[in-house]
Amino acid sequence: MATNRTFTMIKPDAVEKGHIGGILSMITEAGFRIVSLKLTQLTLADAQAFYAVHKERPFFGELVEFMTRGPIVAAILEKENAVEDFRALIGATNPADAAEGTIRKKYATSVGENAVHGSDSDENAAIESNFHFAGREQF
Ligand code: TYD
Repeated sequence: MATNRTFTMIKPDAVEKGHIGGILSMITEAGFRIVSLKLTQLTLADAQAFYAVHKERPFFGELVEFMTRGPIVAAILEKENAVEDFRALIGATNPADAAEGTIRKKYATSVGENAVHGSDSDENAAIESNFHFAGREQF
């Protein structure tokens, strides 16, 4: 059964360009409630652990370098069918393939620097949420 929470990050490219407010607006206007929210920066070890599933991929080095180069916004979001609906709101990994009206269509510049993360399953949403937020920070 689908749970009603997902995890997101506004990535360093979008934070650098001043898009935190615009992206959070799109998220809340789409009906998501903010459960947890913070501005933080990933260490190299954090990024390597978070993206461990991609460690054999050719883009892994660039991905962890990008994700650690500046602050990110981490958030837990709540809505019915959260994981699937949020993946639809962010759009395809490559912004060239992202549909009109999606966050990546509006704010991403490339497949690497694609503005936002969204969990791909309920299981990963829980793991990623607990990686970033203590239980007492999950409202
Ligand atoms: P992935 O989990 O495939 O995409 P998504 O973020 O849409 O779930 O990949 C994770 C991140 O890895 C992706 O957001 C950006 C980066 N990435 C690259 O830099 N190059 C690539 O070719 C791919 C597939 C991903």
